[in-house]
Amino acid sequence: MVLGRDSIEYKTPAQLKLMQEAGVVTSRALDAAVAAAVAGATTADLDAAAAAVIREAGAASNFLGYEGYPATICTSVNEQVVHGIPGGYVLRDGDVVSIDGGAVVQGWHGDSARTVIIGDGDPADQELSDVTEAAMWHGIAALATAKYVGNVGDAIDDYVTAAVGEKLGILEDYVGHGIGTSMHMAPDVLNYRSRHRGPKVKPGMALAIEPMLVRGSLQTRVLDDGWTVVTSDGARAAHWEHSVAVHRGGIWVLTAVDGGAAKLAPLGVVPVPPA
Ligand code: MF3
Ligand code: CO
Repeated sequence: MVLGRDSIEYKTPAQLKLMQEAGVVTSRALDAAVAAAVAGATTADLDAAAAAVIREAGAASNFLGYEGYPATICTSVNEQVVHGIPGGYVLRDGDVVSIDGGAVVQGWHGDSARTVIIGDGDPADQELSDVTEAAMWHGIAALATAKYVGNVGDAIDDYVTAAVGEKLGILEDYVGHGIGTSMHMAPDVLNYRSRHRGPKVKPGMALAIEPMLVRGSLQTRVLDDGWTVVTSDGARAAHWEHSVAVHRGGIWVLTAVDGGAAKLAPLGVVPVPPA
């Protein structure tokens, strides 16, 4: 690992393998939280399910205690976009729940998020989540051949416009990030087209790619709890995230147990594990 003048942390293949371990624990923790996300469960139940997996893996939560954050995962329901705090809220049919979590193994971080809809949902909410997930995969696929980190945002933006036009908005207040020995590192990973093309994509980079889409205005505010980000107009939001490694052999989705192979195949990308 070399910290250059641009402050980006470039990882060796051995270090990326440790990040893969953290990523797999992150994925299993999200599996448990998603399985617990049923009508009648509280968001605290989802948190407990994820925490048990991380603990049993001998890993640690990177969210718990992060700038004082009080839980293992974030559960953001309906008009909540990100950083919702799990608690006594009882889930019900039709709720849109974004579940965001991460794990640390030997000092290396994973970070990933998925959106689920409880029971019978509104088809427009399902489309919101599906387009957000597909936007994430298009951004990940773009990273495989990207010259600049900004190409990820270009791909996400182009996909969303082609899929739904202006019907859904890409949030700009929150962006993806580098990840490694900390959860949030340089560089920023924008989810939209910008004249800032960002740094060059180089082997050893690990990026968290995390588009957030909304059914209404892009304006957000933070609730009095100091964490929960909601849309100002109350429109629903979705959030999908994976941590992805770039190495000499290609890319590997660290927080997917198959490295992203299944979802990237239709996009013409074959992930290669770091070695
Ligand atoms: N995945 C979240 C993000 O990148 C991490 C939130 S950490 C928390 O913004 F402490 F806010 F939960
Ligand atoms: Co993140």
